[in-house]
Amino acid sequence: MAVTPVVSAPGGLSDAVLAQYEAYPCPGHPPGTAEPEVPDWLGYLRPLLWPRRQDLSGLKVLDAGCGTGAMTSGLARCHPEVNVLAIDISARSLEVAARRLGGCQGGNVRLRQLPIERANELDERFDLIVVWDVLHCVIDAPRVLRTLGDLLTPDGALIASVRAPHGRAGAVALRSLMEALGLGLECPEAIPRARSIIDNLSATHLFQRSEWQQDLAAGGDAAVVDLLLPARQRLYNALEVFELVAESGLEFLRWFCPNMYCPRRYLADADLLRPFEALGSAEQARAAELLHSRMRNHVFVAVRPGHMPDSPQIDGDNWLEAIAVPSPLFRWRDARQETGQHGETVFAVTSEWEGTRATVRLQSWEALIVHVCATGQCLRDVCEHPKLVSGLGPLSAAQRAELVRGFLRRAIADDYVLLAWA
Ligand SMILES: C[S@@+](CC[C@H](N)C(=O)[O-])C[C@H]1O[C@@H](n2cnc3c(N)ncnc32)[C@H](O)[C@@H]1O
Repeated sequence: MAVTPVVSAPGGLSDAVLAQYEAYPCPGHPPGTAEPEVPDWLGYLRPLLWPRRQDLSGLKVLDAGCGTGAMTSGLARCHPEVNVLAIDISARSLEVAARRLGGCQGGNVRLRQLPIERANELDERFDLIVVWDVLHCVIDAPRVLRTLGDLLTPDGALIASVRAPHGRAGAVALRSLMEALGLGLECPEAIPRARSIIDNLSATHLFQRSEWQQDLAAGGDAAVVDLLLPARQRLYNALEVFELVAESGLEFLRWFCPNMYCPRRYLADADLLRPFEALGSAEQARAAELLHSRMRNHVFVAVRPGHMPDSPQIDGDNWLEAIAVPSPLFRWRDARQETGQHGETVFAVTSEWEGTRATVRLQSWEALIVHVCATGQCLRDVCEHPKLVSGLGPLSAAQRAELVRGFLRRAIADDYVLLAWA
């Protein structure tokens, strides 16, 4: 792995944000501890963004605001075939990232000190730009996204995670409390005081230590600062995400987990649901956010205007030419066998991503279809696969194809299977 040294200084951009990350590089990662296991989110994006790419070799990724390299190191470990350039304003964060990346083998990663506002100085184009947990601390987020959007290849995409208000309400209350006490980062007693406040909160407080336990345990002081003493923090609700993307001149492609933004996920009653379904997609997403009420982040994908990945459709004429990819966000290998409502065997498969856990329960025949799809054969061959011919019972070829298609329709809608071209 090549890690190029820091080559350019931030150029006068010294403000409270820079001071925060120089003093408390984020996210914290205790030295010498194992890297946390990160789901293969790039593998999940591949069929969605580049449905004709058989692999990701040579894909160029920009990690804009890489911090201590959590996303970059996850990418380098999971996808050594991609090239990553990781930039950040904070030299100290980049030093930590360089140490962290030193253990990765085979990836091709470069680090560079550069404010995102000056990303236009990069003489390169990227297939994927990652802006993870950064936009809350920049002054002009639409402009930053516009600058980054100009660096995308024509079929490139930008994935961003922004901070959301409701899941952070407790932390936001504590931040205001610290401000009211006049305890900013410049006060030496701010961090110990923040810690004792967290330790002594009443059970009724919205900040539940247990929900942030992982961050607090792994991140040390940096996590306390990030939650209670951030220098700048702009939160975005779901509607504001759409506004942000529109202002940046990019086009909203999808939420990373679209299911979370459907009111039907939270309301089973058809009468209650009806008014929500009459809303536009942005308003539906906002309604889903309010029905959920604890989202901490919004993760979305944006593209250049007019670009729409040429994905196969399960209801298209040539669906049999497609392949069905089990989402790499689900732990298929760890599927648990359970007993269903009628005593039948079901297989439970789970995904965990950004604090959201989803479990899918499949009947044996559905699990068999996923298993055969995972061989990577096109759906025409999947439908005629000997395991399905014997496993799905006495059906004509047309009936078998319709059974497979019906299942895939649901699996795609529920986001645990994706379609790509063979
Ligand atoms: C909360 S950390 C997130 C780090 C990383 N993206 C992650 O999710 O693991 C925010 C990072 O954004 C960086 N940052 C903030 N403003 C920036 C700017 N204008 N240009 C480049 N980096 C910036 C900070 O230095 C910090 O490392």
